[in-house]
Amino acid sequence: MREAATAVARAGLPRVADAERDYARRTPGSRARWERATRVQPNGVSGNGKYFPPHPLFIADAKGSRVTDVDGHEYLDVLMGSGSLLLGHGHPRIVAAVSEQVARFSGTTMPHEPGLALAERMSAKRGLARIRFTVTGSEATQSALRVARSATGRTRFAKCEGGYHGSGDAFLVATHSTAMAGPDSEPAAKPDYAGLPPSVGDDVIVLPYNDVAAAERLIRRSAADLAAVIVEPVLFSSGGAVPATGEFLDTLRRETAAAGIVLIFDEVVTGYRLGPRGAESHYGVTADLVTLGKGVAGGLPLAAFGGRADLMDLALAGSAESRVFQSGTYVENAVSVAAAHAVLDELAERPDALTRLDALGERLRTGIAAELDRAGVPGVVTGAGSMLHFHLGATSVTNRRELLRADVESSRLAQLALVAAGVLWQPLHPAALSIVHTAQDVDNVLATMREVLR
Ligand SMILES: Cc1ncc(COP(=O)(O)O)c(C=O)c1O
Repeated sequence: MREAATAVARAGLPRVADAERDYARRTPGSRARWERATRVQPNGVSGNGKYFPPHPLFIADAKGSRVTDVDGHEYLDVLMGSGSLLLGHGHPRIVAAVSEQVARFSGTTMPHEPGLALAERMSAKRGLARIRFTVTGSEATQSALRVARSATGRTRFAKCEGGYHGSGDAFLVATHSTAMAGPDSEPAAKPDYAGLPPSVGDDVIVLPYNDVAAAERLIRRSAADLAAVIVEPVLFSSGGAVPATGEFLDTLRRETAAAGIVLIFDEVVTGYRLGPRGAESHYGVTADLVTLGKGVAGGLPLAAFGGRADLMDLALAGSAESRVFQSGTYVENAVSVAAAHAVLDELAERPDALTRLDALGERLRTGIAAELDRAGVPGVVTGAGSMLHFHLGATSVTNRRELLRADVESSRLAQLALVAAGVLWQPLHPAALSIVHTAQDVDNVLATMREVLR
């Protein structure tokens, strides 16, 4: 695999070596701002994920499927706020709902009717007996894990290698690291960053994604200690848009049910993207708890977690002994709630929108695969529905290790070359389309990809 990867860099993508230079030449305004930013913000950004070398792109404007940078260049956006802009930038329905609400009230601390109505709508849509809002996906996963711990009286949990569940300490184990610690069939629970207690890994069992036999063995071995198994139905931001196999999710469901472990589907990305009931519709597997975020409020900060009434009620409405903490100043912010209603209204009014969106995702996936073929560049395209990524130099990517064993550097440069050519696809991040993208947009991405590969 390594040799194949090197061959891509040498033979398949000679011009991609120029990607950083082309990008830098096109974006002097972003460079200047990033340098200015480094004087007030470490590494010139607020958030690791916003930075990519040689410097991030500073955005001046956005509308629909397009963004404009501070140098006045327009980009076709396929990053879409890391998948949060399900309705595109500045959707008129969201703009109207948010504008109207912000003039009435935003943060109230007290509950309100629009928030209650949203809880009813979202729980009905996703088949969640109970639901609670949070601001971020990170809080949603953290809260779901607390519910599982309270309900089971156990502390440890299992996650998949390459699974990203937000910024909570325990979730930053075997997520972003490129070190691939431990054997393929039993990844080590190593914290990925400084600043985390080294003991944080003691609470985590790491499962190799899509490895049914290993998951079965590792869960059984620690079953008595495990409060939860948490999994992204499609490994997204650090996993390269790799879908779980049905057999893998079936195995997690079977093993967790047998051992009284809470199964959590982290659907912060896939929540509204994988079908009417997310992963449940797509795979026919029902989790005990589900987390939602990103697209549910079309780019405004709102997330949620929910599921079985017995678990949720015990941990969030039970006695002091079983009660977990979940709250926050900006939880159920009425402006975000208005945006989330607008998303549901739009999807209800356009019942074919998500099917159309999936078809666009498929068109882009098969199109990129065809472009790789045409250019004689080895690689694979992964994804499901409207989410996708490409991996140069790979022959198969079913988990994070296979992704890392591909030619990650050539993929990064190819993505940077796409940005330099007017397609905003942040290096090493998967793409997620929105319902305002068109078939023409997809064909434009493919034409740019053809240029880049040439
Ligand atoms: C699957 C998944 N879970 C949780 C999170 C964390 O969400 P947030 O960034 O809103 O904290 C993310 C963010 O990328 C995610 O992709």
